[in-house]
Amino acid sequence: MTGELPRALLREFAAVLGSAHVLTGDATAGYRTDWTGGFTGHTPAVLRPRDTAEVAAVLALCTGAGVAVVPQGGNTGLVGGGVPRHGEVVLSLARLGRLGPVDADSGQVTAGAGVSLQRVAEGAGPDLDLPTRIASQGTATVGGAVATNAGGLRVLRYGSMRSQLRGIEAVLSDGTVLTHLAGLVKDNTGYDYPSLLAGSEGTLAVITAARLQLVPRLADPVTVIVGVPGPAEAHALARQAVRTAGSLVSAEYFTQAGLDILAVHAGLAAPLRPPSPAYLLLEAAGPGAAGDLATLAADWPAAVGTGAAERARLWASRERHPEAAGFLGVPLKLDVSVPAAQWVRLASEVAGVVAAADPGAQVISYGHIADGNLHVNLVPAAPADGRHEDAVFSFVASLGGSISAEHGIGALKARWLPLVRSPAELALFARLRNALDPAGTLNPHVLPR
Ligand code: MLT
Ligand code: ZN
Repeated sequence: MTGELPRALLREFAAVLGSAHVLTGDATAGYRTDWTGGFTGHTPAVLRPRDTAEVAAVLALCTGAGVAVVPQGGNTGLVGGGVPRHGEVVLSLARLGRLGPVDADSGQVTAGAGVSLQRVAEGAGPDLDLPTRIASQGTATVGGAVATNAGGLRVLRYGSMRSQLRGIEAVLSDGTVLTHLAGLVKDNTGYDYPSLLAGSEGTLAVITAARLQLVPRLADPVTVIVGVPGPAEAHALARQAVRTAGSLVSAEYFTQAGLDILAVHAGLAAPLRPPSPAYLLLEAAGPGAAGDLATLAADWPAAVGTGAAERARLWASRERHPEAAGFLGVPLKLDVSVPAAQWVRLASEVAGVVAAADPGAQVISYGHIADGNLHVNLVPAAPADGRHEDAVFSFVASLGGSISAEHGIGALKARWLPLVRSPAELALFARLRNALDPAGTLNPHVLPR
């Protein structure tokens, strides 16, 4: 059921949450559109529970009334998975902001779904840190980051969000609360459902808290940006870095085309002169880091940063790339990955593949090169009717790749999932979904049912 909600149901929501936390009308505006402006929707109500019991109560009410729900964290997702595109009720987890103490023995912490990743990192203290690092971490929340299995800038060292997950608390659509937050290092007691919920995009259960493994804070990080002629040289150097530099934390690719846009529209200073067609940013930390990077960068023009300010200046060239295409229009953000051996082909040929479908489209590519990941951001000139996704995703599938490396499927990519998942796999997805959410309450338009 979408559209208007029965008054009696709104009164029941208000009885659970307090009427100040049942938003309707104009008060829902900030919850209806995503960060890119590319996905927008409408909703009869935004529900803002403050704890797990309230989440359970309102979910049971929604399921009982046949009302569809879109769970929402920091609303920084990039595939339309947290936006009420079909008039769903929005379940905002923003008020689940409890951050527990760091357990000194295990180096773990339990965080409510609404805690920002930055708060977890800052709360970890001087010696520990949250491994996951994404540009939107000041706004992105633990619940959303787990639900989308967020990747980011340090996956080559620490893995995606699922790798940090040691336990979970979540609520099924009928209001059943599942709690498994002890954080045991070894725990082979049946199905690892926390891992299943990581990347489930709010379709199986609503995550209310996560037990996260922290890591030692990096000592004396060093950042270098190397200018290279193109993707082939960037990739060869990144592979060499992965093979030889035990201190490596990040390997990021971007191009002068992106920097040119950021210089004009954001006043971003060039990281390196003279400019090069492409760049590889490497970050390393710990003993040997400076030497490792100096060896790797020896044959190329390079800028090195050690102090926090200098490193931040270099990182801005990469971290501001998600904004670049947005200065030219509403961007289509295609986040793909391929086997390592195919990455150079992907990065070299993807602009031509897009041009064949839409000669006027502008393409800005960047990404996590050591993960086989490329963010293909494009601003269409032709109608955005699926032709761009068809072209890029078919190309990626032909290279043996994935149509979503780290952003998820959401609303943007559901149509193309059969390119990379077999009918048997999709049938398994549907069976899991029907088992956990038989009424179809949770994010019904995300991932195929
Ligand atoms: C990034 O790597 O910067 C993020 O995945 C965000 C984006 O691509 O827009
Ligand atoms: Zn990324």
